Amino acid sequence: MKILVLGSGAREHAIIKALIRTGTDPEEITCAPGNGGISQEVKTVSIDANNPEAVTNWALAASTELVVIGPEAPLVAGVSDALRAAGIAVFGPSKAAAALEGSKEFAKDVMAAADVPTGMARKCTSLSEVESALDEYGAPYVVKADGLAAGKGVIVTSDKQAALDHAHTFLTHGMEILVEEFLDGEEVSLFFLSDGTSVVPLSPAQDFKRAYNFDKGPNTGGMGAYSPLPWLPEGFVKEVQDRVALPTVRELARLGTPFVGLLYCGLIVTSKGIRVIEFNARFGDPETQVVLRRLVTPLSHLLHNAATGHLAEVNEPEFTKDVAVTVVLASEGYPVTSAPNREITGIVPDTNSVEVAHAATKLEDGKLIATGGRVLSVVSIADDFHEARRAAYEAICGIELEGSHYRTDIALKVDEVQNV
Ligand code: AMP
Ligand code: GLY
Repeated sequence: MKILVLGSGAREHAIIKALIRTGTDPEEITCAPGNGGISQEVKTVSIDANNPEAVTNWALAASTELVVIGPEAPLVAGVSDALRAAGIAVFGPSKAAAALEGSKEFAKDVMAAADVPTGMARKCTSLSEVESALDEYGAPYVVKADGLAAGKGVIVTSDKQAALDHAHTFLTHGMEILVEEFLDGEEVSLFFLSDGTSVVPLSPAQDFKRAYNFDKGPNTGGMGAYSPLPWLPEGFVKEVQDRVALPTVRELARLGTPFVGLLYCGLIVTSKGIRVIEFNARFGDPETQVVLRRLVTPLSHLLHNAATGHLAEVNEPEFTKDVAVTVVLASEGYPVTSAPNREITGIVPDTNSVEVAHAATKLEDGKLIATGGRVLSVVSIADDFHEARRAAYEAICGIELEGSHYRTDIALKVDEVQNV
């Protein structure tokens, strides 16, 4: 099957590695635009992934049978709508359905209509409304700017003045603010493939959102992840499927905006039960690196069936019992400041137990150059978390990039608990 993958991050690299590992011929895969690591495994083309016409024209000319959209930006730009209109199977929701990620207010409305459990929230358009909502819910305070992705518009703080200052910054830019009830508990990312009517769960993962060890520092796109989550109660996935994913997909279908693609459920397991903190309309990064590393079922088959409305005929995907850990290497200053392009060395070739998914890298005169932000994800798989962590950290220790940093506590807690 001829597949075009859109995107240039470690998530897209992980999707491509999983396609190949589960049986797709690398010759059949093209990535646009890709990065320095992806271009060493499959063909890359330099079309603009956010341009609906350019992508559709390329896909038609190349007789593409499936387009897999990695990031949010092409969804928001209407790339999936254009591809669908041209009769091409596409894994990625329409612009209208992708608003589930882009508009926190839309997501809250869908959840309210579908009776999906989530935290209380107040929409605010002035600082005085923000202040009274903060007082209503109490500390810690959660303030979100509507319409911003990747956690960048979110602050969770016990400092009321910092919460107000955060709200003020976005209000002065004309954005609406959501003040939310703080939800206390472990976070879980659970992905569902959706064909607009049926959903199929993948395996749960946990992401590490803060920049520094022990959940200190600012929010990031994600600094590491592990899968599965052995501490989850029996029946967790089924409960999220029945109480969150299916009602949400049914509500979107009822609204005339069927969701075809990856429904990312960002959840907190509170003492009162499961609560949704966010939806995304795409695979999570870096959770995808660990979830798909454990996938056994052919990924192309799953994505194509989702894209063409045939998920009901698909058996639940199979995952290995092995555990996977990923640690993100970020460039100097991330997520606060950006670093100049720098050479990166010491990446060893993939083995059966450790592989490297590239994000912000490019090849230049035979050298690998890091171009800032999250640069790569080291992914390891093993019988247990102790060995998976050991192997991931051994590999990342050997990588040299001036000023780079990574967290050293990814999957530490689950490793310690398993070794008691
Ligand atoms: P979001 O952009 O909504 O995913 O938020 C980014 C991160 O902020 C989440 O992954 C959580 O770690 C944290 N967060 C968001 N909303 C809440 C909430 N209501 N209660 C506690 N933590 C939250
Ligand atoms: N890792 C969080 C996200 O992909 O949004």
